[in-house]
Amino acid sequence: MRNVILAKTAGFCFGVRRAVDMAYGLAGKHKVYTYGPIIHNETVVDDLESKGVRVVHSIDEAAGLRGGTMIIRSHGASKNEINLLKQMGFEIVDATCPFVKKIHRIVEDFSGQGYGIVIIGSAAHPEVQAISGWCKEPPVIIESVEEAENFSPDPDKKLCLVSQTTFNYNKFQLLVEIISKKGYDIRCLNTICNATEERQSEARDIAGRVDAMIVIGGRQSSNTQKLYDICKNECKNTYYIQTLVDLDLKTFESIGNVGITAGASTPNNIIEEVHTNMSEMGNEQSFEQMLEASLKT
Ligand code: F3S
Repeated sequence: MRNVILAKTAGFCFGVRRAVDMAYGLAGKHKVYTYGPIIHNETVVDDLESKGVRVVHSIDEAAGLRGGTMIIRSHGASKNEINLLKQMGFEIVDATCPFVKKIHRIVEDFSGQGYGIVIIGSAAHPEVQAISGWCKEPPVIIESVEEAENFSPDPDKKLCLVSQTTFNYNKFQLLVEIISKKGYDIRCLNTICNATEERQSEARDIAGRVDAMIVIGGRQSSNTQKLYDICKNECKNTYYIQTLVDLDLKTFESIGNVGITAGASTPNNIIEEVHTNMSEMGNEQSFEQMLEASLKT
């Protein structure tokens, strides 16, 4: 009989659940928008769109609309963007994750005191772009060892260092170590969110114990890609899918132990569908085996 292990930490984290719930709570009302996709999951974004919640991709696009309700997603937005949206007449519903909001407050406060801000994270990530937008002066963004080694700001300026919430903890420590050795006066604040770390370590543990691992998440989701890489490292039969449709069920017919995890923006119903199918497939097999066994006697 098949053993299916579903990760307890699979799917929405607290911040994403909160943002999605807020969007569904406003669905059906007149002129509701999200500033950027509410999560990296096409299924949820399309479902919200069908309920009247439209995605606005830029300030320019927002300028073409005549007000309404604008939901700020869990990644947050810059102070300037929020102010511009207010000036355009939008009512702001701020679904920025409280953990991200805390980073906005830190960088705003420290940069206001004259500290230079260093963000450990990816410059291309919307969360980092939003954090940058709360600094009084443009921050330095460091993602790689090379960037940390080449970092040489004004030695007389005090520094405040924060992290993108989803950054890898070991890499964060390594980069901080490189920067600290340079002898600057640094206030280092580890702002990595535990939800990511917990999801990754549970996925690593499960992938190391199963014959096949399924990772569910949107194509654009960097945290799902990261989960996939971690699992693939432990289990070569690791599959990255968006929904059950992407799964070649035949591949799993002869597999005993299957693990399932999902990225932070994967809705529960998609995870449940995959889980149920995998479990039922396992039971069907055992029924056939039972039948075969009973015919032999
Ligand atoms: Fe918030 Fe952590 Fe999720 S920062 S959006 S609870 S990954």
